[in-house]
Amino acid sequence: MSPTAAINSWPLYHSMQGVIAHRGASGEAPENTAPAIRLAHTQGATWAEVDVTISADGIAVIHHDDDLSRCSNGQGLVVQHDLLQLQQLDSGSWFNPQFGGTPILTLHELLQLAQALPLALNLELKPAAGLEAATVHAVAATLAAVEAPPVLLLSSFSELALALAHESLPQLPRALNVDAIPSDWAQRLSQAQATSLHFDADAVDLQRLAEIHQAGIATAAFTVNHTDQASQLWQAGVSAVFSDYPERLRRHWLQWQAAQSR
Ligand code: G3P
Ligand code: MG
Repeated sequence: MSPTAAINSWPLYHSMQGVIAHRGASGEAPENTAPAIRLAHTQGATWAEVDVTISADGIAVIHHDDDLSRCSNGQGLVVQHDLLQLQQLDSGSWFNPQFGGTPILTLHELLQLAQALPLALNLELKPAAGLEAATVHAVAATLAAVEAPPVLLLSSFSELALALAHESLPQLPRALNVDAIPSDWAQRLSQAQATSLHFDADAVDLQRLAEIHQAGIATAAFTVNHTDQASQLWQAGVSAVFSDYPERLRRHWLQWQAAQSR
């Protein structure tokens, strides 16, 4: 990885203002849906993270699990349903009846919504096993069809998906997602062609984190809903925390920032 690529990630992470709305404002609206994205923006978030997978007919859609049952009234795998079938589903009632009738978003719809708000997006590539290339292809095809996409950052636990994204979408910054930060983080970032690292906040290793920041790599941590944990991470140099409650964490970030400059 070139040092230039690493340095270029910092302005992007700075613009997150300490918080990324995790699956939108998913503590208060159904995750990965338009209401959650709109609420994140209303609450002052500048960035939201969403999970991207594909339908049976190869269209990029916004959904976290491989299976439909937790977050919709559908059953079976997302990838076994074509887009028309997915669009018949209700992905809001499971969260609260007030969100009944909320559809699964396509990536195309989401990009248009985020551009209009505006809200920058971290697209987490969540390919079903073996469908890494098809998922990256679907994202690239969608982006090619959108005239003015919002500010974007790609990420994935799949090193293959990231390396494929580097080939087809070289202009977009890419983050590697990991649970605990591995000792060979530099090699893993390089293999995945990623320029930043997202890790599980509950598995933080402060010494390793310091090494990463010293190497000029920006980081973000998931999923943080408690303010004390967020302050510890920001203090350790983590640029942003993914939170289901962006309003709460953003308010805390503003207070934390003010205390730092006293
Ligand atoms: O992208 C950060 C975080 O969303 C990764 O974990 O399971 O919530 O998608 P998950
Ligand atoms: Mg995610």
